[in-house]
Amino acid sequence: MFSPKTISRRHALKQLTALAGAPLAANLLAQALADNNSPANGLSNSVSLGDEASRKGILYGSAVGKASLSLDQPYAELIARQCKIVVPESEMKWKTLRPTPDRYVFDAGDWIVRWAESHGIVVHGTALVWHEALPAWFEGYANKNNARELMVNHIKTVVGHYVGKMHSWDVVNEGLLETGLRDTPFLRLIGPEYMDLAFQTTAEADPKAIRVYNDMYVEESNNDVKRRLLLKLLEDMLSRKVPVQALGIQGHLRSDMGGFDAKKLRAFLRQVAGLGLQIFITELDMRDQSPANDVGTRDAAIARYCEDFLSTVLEEKAVTVVISWGLTDRYTWLSGKAPRSDGQPVRPLPFDQNLAPKPVFAAMAKAFDDAPNR
Ligand code: XIL
Repeated sequence: MFSPKTISRRHALKQLTALAGAPLAANLLAQALADNNSPANGLSNSVSLGDEASRKGILYGSAVGKASLSLDQPYAELIARQCKIVVPESEMKWKTLRPTPDRYVFDAGDWIVRWAESHGIVVHGTALVWHEALPAWFEGYANKNNARELMVNHIKTVVGHYVGKMHSWDVVNEGLLETGLRDTPFLRLIGPEYMDLAFQTTAEADPKAIRVYNDMYVEESNNDVKRRLLLKLLEDMLSRKVPVQALGIQGHLRSDMGGFDAKKLRAFLRQVAGLGLQIFITELDMRDQSPANDVGTRDAAIARYCEDFLSTVLEEKAVTVVISWGLTDRYTWLSGKAPRSDGQPVRPLPFDQNLAPKPVFAAMAKAFDDAPNR
């Protein structure tokens, strides 16, 4: 095996990419991971996804949690090495920030912002307006008389607190369904203009942070209606001079939903770019539901899927940010959200439980390497 010190970054990448596609990937990768001098482990030190992406003018990073970042040193080092942008997984959501209607608690969010600053990493915030992660008091408290003020004050206070410190914000998250605007407390209590108002308020509170409209399953091949509605929503907002600046495509990839159609996705991204918007991939992960029971086959499938997706979206130069929803299988929301039926731990992210890189890591590095310059 090669010594990590003597192999070049590109060579290491080639090695692991080859492992990803090889029929004996499971054995080879297991062997590689068991060997400290292996290309796989050498790779985690020599290749940084953040650096790979930066070379093309793309910002790459991950969702993070304060608890793991502050308690798990090797994990924190991995994030610092791999990421140029982080997003607090829950620390900037209403539920965390607003224990009571009249109190804000910024401690956890502040901690992440400080940590990121001290490592030269920028921060994306989620989410100013979302129907989930609302505090328990919200339902009984918000009504038609106070909802507008409640939302506006929330945005003013939170965006104002972090003014000058944020790269970008998910201003509205998951506001659309295939049937039209999603029925959320904000829509019910404020009316359809809640989105415009949220973007305007954010722009006033921090003119510099990039304002994102973020949504899910945009890439799914069957979701033509959602893509059409989304395009219309963005066009309409822009024609009303609503200051939306980017579309966030979450990218919780699921091969079990029918997959994505590269041609449709490319065409859609072109249209969004044609509106003058940036495109962020905000929550990339791969549901690990394949019936295969050997890790090599599962990892190879996920790597292939991710590379197909990323290489498709990165062809579009308006895609400027890629954020994974976690970096290591050690911390992934999918362990709870979508566990495997065979009880095996899920493996949706670039690094495994032991923080060793997996084929999907190499696939992502290759997609960044192959991407055109921004
Ligand atoms: C998820 C977090 O990862 C979980 O820890 C939390 O329990 C629920 O929210 N779409 C989003 C993210 O926009 O904010 C969600 O994050 C995942 C789905």
